Amino acid sequence: MLHLQSITKTYGKKQILKDVSFSIQAGEIVGLVGENGAGKSTMLQILATLSKPTKGKIHLAELSYEEHTKDIRKKIGYVPQDIAIWEEFTVEENMLFFEKLSWINKSKQQLKQLCLDMELDKWKEPVNTLSGGMKRKLNLAISLIHDPEVLLLDEPTVGIDLKSKMEIGNYLKEQATLHHKIIVYTSHDMDEIIRLCDRVLCIGEDPFYYDILVQKKKNVVTI
Ligand SMILES: Nc1ncnc2c1ncn2[C@@H]1O[C@H](COP(=O)(O)OP(=O)(O)OP(=O)(O)O)[C@@H](O)[C@H]1O
Ligand SMILES: [Mg+2]
Repeated sequence: MLHLQSITKTYGKKQILKDVSFSIQAGEIVGLVGENGAGKSTMLQILATLSKPTKGKIHLAELSYEEHTKDIRKKIGYVPQDIAIWEEFTVEENMLFFEKLSWINKSKQQLKQLCLDMELDKWKEPVNTLSGGMKRKLNLAISLIHDPEVLLLDEPTVGIDLKSKMEIGNYLKEQATLHHKIIVYTSHDMDEIIRLCDRVLCIGEDPFYYDILVQKKKNVVTI
């Protein structure tokens, strides 16, 4: 279980997250929605240990984020909002590079399969010749190399075609239900949020997203 207790984040005088508390069980896909600047990426960066909350505590099962940061990192897969891959290397070279950085040994075949699971079949192509959507698929595949317990995905399907979106969505569902992963996921695509997420957390005071999700009978709370 991922448990957040009274998380507050301020940048200078600006308070982004205000006393946020929630828990996510293994096997759950939780959507994080809100307008531009609401704090979705900030929340994911905190959950990815890349940014520290100003106040509050986070635990993954019995591990405290403050005391066990290294152990926590091994259990987390993070896809940042901005693509982070080696542009001049091929898909294969990127996968092999990030496998070396991970704490797990995967065969070339397993790495290739991970890309195929993301509907990416450009194994030998240099990344700078891929489309934006294909790069995102590669970023997703990289985040899965070390078989993380928690997947933090910041707008992972922006620019990805509908067919691949559906297939990646099905793959993520399977990761949650069959492999009991915790998935926290942001998107501005409400259809996708409705299709994929078990529960939605709506950041900010604007009721726009909240109202849409309530109308669709989605399990949603504001934070
Ligand atoms: N490093 C930083 N220093 C100062 N302010 C920041 C920093 N990072 C983010 N912010 C501010 O925090 C607020 C939340 O930003 P964040 O990127 O979390 O929003 P978001 O919900 O992900 O938005 P978007 O939908 O545009 O991706 C914004 O007002 C942003 O300007
Ligand atoms: Mg963002």
